[in-house]
Amino acid sequence: MSQFTSGFWDIYVAVISLVSIIACAVFLKLQSVRKAGETDTTGHSWDEDLAEYNNPLPRWWMWLFYITIVFSLAYLVFYPGLGSFSGTLGWSQVKQLEEETAQADARFGPIFDKFAAQEVAALAKNPEALAIGQKLFLNNCAQCHASDAGGSRGFPNLADKDWLWGGTPEAIKTTITEGRTGMMPPFGAAVGGDEAVKDVAHYVLSLSGRTHDSLRAFRGKQKFAQICVACHGPEGKGNPLMGAPNLTDNVWLHGSGETAIVEQITKGRNNQMPAHKDLLAPAKIHLLTAYVYSLSQGGAPASREQGSRLRDATGRESGAAPSSAGVASVSGVTSPKGAPVPPSDGAPPGR
Ligand code: HEC
Ligand code: HEC
Repeated sequence: MSQFTSGFWDIYVAVISLVSIIACAVFLKLQSVRKAGETDTTGHSWDEDLAEYNNPLPRWWMWLFYITIVFSLAYLVFYPGLGSFSGTLGWSQVKQLEEETAQADARFGPIFDKFAAQEVAALAKNPEALAIGQKLFLNNCAQCHASDAGGSRGFPNLADKDWLWGGTPEAIKTTITEGRTGMMPPFGAAVGGDEAVKDVAHYVLSLSGRTHDSLRAFRGKQKFAQICVACHGPEGKGNPLMGAPNLTDNVWLHGSGETAIVEQITKGRNNQMPAHKDLLAPAKIHLLTAYVYSLSQGGAPASREQGSRLRDATGRESGAAPSSAGVASVSGVTSPKGAPVPPSDGAPPGR
């Protein structure tokens, strides 16, 4: 009731509650006595001659109603309900939550403490720790990274060996604790307009061996060396210090098609992983780190990893289709090896 500044509303609510309960009791009482001289039927008739006796409710039924009235009065005495009166038992939601939290802390605290003292690498092999880590992941992370940690467009796959910010236990823990911002400024103007952007995009395509226009890639290479190397490195292999992705590995966060890459260059990107230090206790972040770390320690095949990163909400590899006709019709569509490269992500060929 704190949003009401005046005590009037407390009394207003209390009076309405009490008056309605008492009115119910009075109404029941009135209904339970048959008034002298009244006719036996309600006076209505259906289907010409079907009438209804005007009898009081059965007694047992009546008593059920009286019991609910007594119950509601007793409830209002023991529990909060009458305006600002907090009930004789002193129960409140906040108190209940605090008690339950304290109980949970007492029960699980020692378990978390035990794990907090162990190395992430050791915990990543401990089934009990991983089970807790997975629960934490499903509750706190799965909404963005998917329940299998496979990610989706814009949300990195955490189960592969490809990292934006580094896959060591320390790097993963920093990511979860402090959050990360993957920031790439828009470069449309700096690169020199739409055609030049397309050239650079084809150079980027060539880096991972995707089908590209080699003439455009040749022209784009110089722009890349001027602008993009600052973050993506001279060979395009990325830089975990600023979360700049490796552009040579054919693992894509925002889509692999020409359209997606052109959009990335012209519009830039500001991609946020929220900080969790205010949401989760350090012991929980420790277990989450172990869980995430464990996911990439198995020998999962690379193709599956890429497939899950490329998946978006509709399962469609958007950005690739509109450009396919245009690119395929350009002469000199080759891969570095001279042959068209079949896409490894299940997207339709011909990009
Ligand atoms: C609101 C969505 C969101 C939630 C919730 C979220 N993340 Fe992220 N996470 C992201 C985004 C977006 C990125 C990519 C940031 C970037 O582009 O640099 C990311 C990046 C990461 C990375 C770095 C991946 C790499 O390749 O370096 C890790 C590790 C990670 N998240 C773990 C977690 C864990 C563990 C949780 C749960 C505690 C979590 N995330 C919750 C959105 C989210
Ligand atoms: C200031 C540093 C910086 C510069 C300069 C920069 N990038 Fe980026 N780039 C990033 C970061 C950081 C990301 C990751 C964004 C994210 O986390 O979502 C990125 C992402 C990308 C992606 C998406 C990769 C994927 O997996 O989907 C492409 C493509 C790309 N950059 C190409 C370029 C090109 C081409 C240039 C030069 C015109 C360039 N970048 C210049 C920092 C930079």
